[in-house]
Amino acid sequence: MGKVVALANQKGGVGKTTTAINLGASLAACERRVLLVDVDPQANATSGLGFPPNNGNSMYSVVVHGTPASTIVQATELPGLDIAPSSIDLVGAEIELADADRREFRLRDAIEPLRGAYDYILVDVPPSLGFLTLNALTAADSVLVPLQCEYFALEGVSQLLATIERVRDTFNSQLEIEGVALTMYDDRMNLARQVAAAPRMAATVKALRIPIRDLVRTKIRSPQPSRKASIGNRPLIFRKAEEPARTAPSQSGR
Ligand SMILES: Nc1ncnc2c1ncn2[C@@H]1O[C@H](COP(=O)(O)OP(=O)(O)OP(=O)(O)O)[C@@H](O)[C@H]1O
Ligand SMILES: [Mg+2]
Repeated sequence: MGKVVALANQKGGVGKTTTAINLGASLAACERRVLLVDVDPQANATSGLGFPPNNGNSMYSVVVHGTPASTIVQATELPGLDIAPSSIDLVGAEIELADADRREFRLRDAIEPLRGAYDYILVDVPPSLGFLTLNALTAADSVLVPLQCEYFALEGVSQLLATIERVRDTFNSQLEIEGVALTMYDDRMNLARQVAAAPRMAATVKALRIPIRDLVRTKIRSPQPSRKASIGNRPLIFRKAEEPARTAPSQSGR
């Protein structure tokens, strides 16, 4: 049975989609069967894997109209990595779900029949704590929190924790915190800012009660990390072999 992992942080631009795409691609390269479910109306994971973000067959019809998810799943160019694409229509889902039956369980109901076909189902979540995020946390076995290595990135983490606790108490008592993925660590960044962030980062990780072995640091090394983390609508794993030192994501900690 596939494990469902939601990548969530209501703060925008912290690396949820980039982590989802590259983690998914890396797991597929390790011969795991992976489905990336895009429930962000921005559809960045969808376009990031080379699919048009305005297709009629998207997670919108799955979540709102109950269309079987299997009918919208598409294979990517990487064997083993499939995507359930998003589209801009999903913006409306936040409102349409408000009066719907089982409004917090729509995604869980949709994903359940697909679990047997995958080892991992990664859910890319929008930067908000609305119904789509609530659906993702209700559907998930665990949540992976991408956390940017910056002072202000920690603002709002307590809100995310409160939401996770609420989902545990109400809709999904099994929900675990998979870990924290520290993103965009940059050696060249102003040292003072990183030093300032360190104690708060440590306190946050402690509050999450995550053993240190579950911390994953992701660092995409490049002079302009933010422009290099996803290029040409393809995961980094496809980048040319001659550029590895500057572009390959490196991980440590687990
Ligand atoms: N580990 C990383 N190292 C360097 N740059 C990164 C990393 N992760 C993401 N980025 C860059 O940061 C920017 C924001 O990333 P991304 O779109 O993945 O964030 P997000 O949390 O999904 O945003 P949103 O909240 O809008 O959905 C992108 O330009 C991406 O290339
Ligand atoms: Mg995103």
